[in-house]
Amino acid sequence: MKVYLLTLFLAAVAQAQPAAELYQTYCAGCHGAQMQGGQYSALRKREWIYGGSREEILRTVMYGIAGKEMVPWSKLIPIPQVEALVDYIVASRDTAPAAPAAKPDTLQLADYTVRIERLVEQGFRSAPWGIEFVDDRRALITELRGGLRWLVDGKLDPEPITGIPETIQYGTGGMMDLALDPDYAKNGWVYLSYVHPLGQGKTEERPAMTRIIRGRVEGHKWVGQELLFNVPDELYFVNRGRWGCRLLFDREGYLYFTIGDIRENADVQRLDRPAGKTYRINRDGSIPKDNPYAGRADAIQAIYTVGNRNVQGIDQHPVTGQIWGTEHGPMGGDELNVLKSGLNYGWPVITHGLDYDGTQVSVISEKPGLEQPVKFWKPSPGLSALEFYTGDLFPKWKHQAFVGALVFQEIKRLKLAGEKVEQEEIFLKGYGRVRDIKTGPEGAIYLLLNEPDQLVRLTPK
Ligand code: HEC
Repeated sequence: MKVYLLTLFLAAVAQAQPAAELYQTYCAGCHGAQMQGGQYSALRKREWIYGGSREEILRTVMYGIAGKEMVPWSKLIPIPQVEALVDYIVASRDTAPAAPAAKPDTLQLADYTVRIERLVEQGFRSAPWGIEFVDDRRALITELRGGLRWLVDGKLDPEPITGIPETIQYGTGGMMDLALDPDYAKNGWVYLSYVHPLGQGKTEERPAMTRIIRGRVEGHKWVGQELLFNVPDELYFVNRGRWGCRLLFDREGYLYFTIGDIRENADVQRLDRPAGKTYRINRDGSIPKDNPYAGRADAIQAIYTVGNRNVQGIDQHPVTGQIWGTEHGPMGGDELNVLKSGLNYGWPVITHGLDYDGTQVSVISEKPGLEQPVKFWKPSPGLSALEFYTGDLFPKWKHQAFVGALVFQEIKRLKLAGEKVEQEEIFLKGYGRVRDIKTGPEGAIYLLLNEPDQLVRLTPK
């Protein structure tokens, strides 16, 4: 009887949410907003890997694909809704995607009318990932497949910087973030985080792991490289995902970086393994004396916090000095955290979500000794960058948090009160996957978007 009532209840929910909306919520992140494909295959097509009849598609969606990030959706979505979704895919699969609606270049928000300028729409060689302004006119931008580029007066310099180390793209990892030395004007140090591959040969067979390096950019050359953080070859992984890896200098000059769980859950709670943590080092790579595991032979001494699934955004609050992080979580478990030295944020012991490969990582969402997020989002927007706005062009937004979302293609403006989110405004929906957010030298907000790859500037109108 109970089961029957539950089914009735779920069926009612099913009718409430149309299939197109379900698709955007659960599927678009991997298969593209228009089913055109993205991180994974298109669903508008004639050739199907797992069979293209309604029955075959239904089977794939219901039971998932073993060993792939394609979940058995019947565990998560009521069956009538799964059926509606499959009918929607079947109805769409032979038609061309609708031309994307032109996005307006002004937006009326609660506090401002915002002007959206697409500064760079062409010329990136792969997905732009991180941006830092070196002075009032120039910025450096990393590109995922191994690029470092100059932006001069809002224009992308066509000549790439040569001599940066080789990387490989594994999932969302490759050449990731960059940071400037707090004394960059004097010493010119630029810090990079990237996936470092061993050996030669086929990409998908090469063991790889995160490295943090620094070097200098002289014109279009990367020179004087120094290695700041790496792990022994035995701790490298083949063909993994969820790498992190944002960089941040705090006001005291410590360098923070983040490493995702590399899909190796068993390592995340281990202090002698790199996956699923945030890190803190001195700018020359040495270990700060007050690091929580400094001096411990059984731990990677650069560790700052433990149990972080995939921190994709990190910034220091301009007033409190606290380090905040946005965590790209499992399905239904994206988090905003205050990252405090030596604390454990619980992944994969506790979580508010289900993992994307269909496994129930944990049935509990709290436990003594493990931190709760400031906030979590369900369904997951696919959180990426985090930036506290510090400019003067939007005075009402000063010191508020801006968080990017990849899957939902949006920005969240978060007004904080202490360690609480007091207000949330969502905007810039559907312009692209938001990868990085930075306050520019003149106080504008700069965004790197992926798919389509572009650099966008927000100013008040
Ligand atoms: C986390 C990523 C992810 C999400 C989210 C996801 N899928 Fe998939 N899906 C995959 C992967 C990986 C495959 C295997 C084929 C490939 O690599 O593209 C796949 C395959 C499929 C296939 C078979 C394609 C073929 O050619 O036979 C269908 C149908 C499908 N997904 C439907 C869905 C639907 C419907 C949803 C939303 C309810 C969804 N997927 C959500 C990752 C995802």
